[in-house]
Amino acid sequence: MILDGKQTSIELQNKMAIEVQNRKKEGLKTPHLAAILVGEDGASQTYVNAKVKACEQVGFDSTLIHLPKETTEHELLSQIEALNEDKNIDGFIVQLPLPAHINVDKVFQQVKPNKDVDGFHPINIGRMVKNLPAYISATPLGILMLLEKYNIETAGKKCVVLGRSQIVGLPMSILLARNTTIGNCTVTLCHSKTSNIKKHTLEADIIVVALGIAEYLKGNMVKKGAIVIDVGITRVNDETKKSGFRLLGDVDYEKVAPKCIAITPVPGGVGPMTITALLHNTLLACKKEIYG
Ligand code: GUN
Repeated sequence: MILDGKQTSIELQNKMAIEVQNRKKEGLKTPHLAAILVGEDGASQTYVNAKVKACEQVGFDSTLIHLPKETTEHELLSQIEALNEDKNIDGFIVQLPLPAHINVDKVFQQVKPNKDVDGFHPINIGRMVKNLPAYISATPLGILMLLEKYNIETAGKKCVVLGRSQIVGLPMSILLARNTTIGNCTVTLCHSKTSNIKKHTLEADIIVVALGIAEYLKGNMVKKGAIVIDVGITRVNDETKKSGFRLLGDVDYEKVAPKCIAITPVPGGVGPMTITALLHNTLLACKKEIYG
């Protein structure tokens, strides 16, 4: 079975669009997401543009703030402060990666937790760990929404997460271990210092691959009947494409898919769900459902 993130996103976004229409009819506030993009990274521009376009499609307002790559940390922090104080903005994100001269931790600590729809502030991460209401990082949340949509039973399953990034691997491992409906897994978090990763993946019922290494997970690393979630999107040059590149996931799809009972494709799997989860968080922010 293919876990179709594109189709699931369309369905979930259609639901959100109806809710937003109803809010407008009732004279309630229109959700408003802002995004800050620093520099000219091509992939980041594509992702931010996709987020802005998705806002339009569901009837949200959106603001894109594009700053030059020379922007100082101080200037970025001031911009964040302005969005923190702007009553019209329900939530905002700072697109990663940021230029090397900017301290990412400082940046995310500046974002007011109640507007942190990316769920990167330590307060939201702490609340997530404690199973308190929190904004949950969009990619892991999108994966949970996809598992839920396909009624995938997770309780008691052995889950291996590959990659311990702060925005995907680490929160994913915590979320799947929590005592929640989509959760209750026995989780192993593998990373660059893990010895014999294959030994772990071969035992896994569910594998989440979030390494950013094209086609890392091979057919001989997966047991028959596994569920595989591919978070990777690496651009590789391809002269036959108009864009000049194609997208590869972290999974060797041709070899792995035949062994799986369920797998996400790239593109059309986790990517669209990340955007849907961000819209979901923005709607929660507008409705003040997390922090009141
Ligand atoms: N860069 C890659 N993924 C993300 C994300 O989910 N949020 C932000 N802000 N930047 C990213």
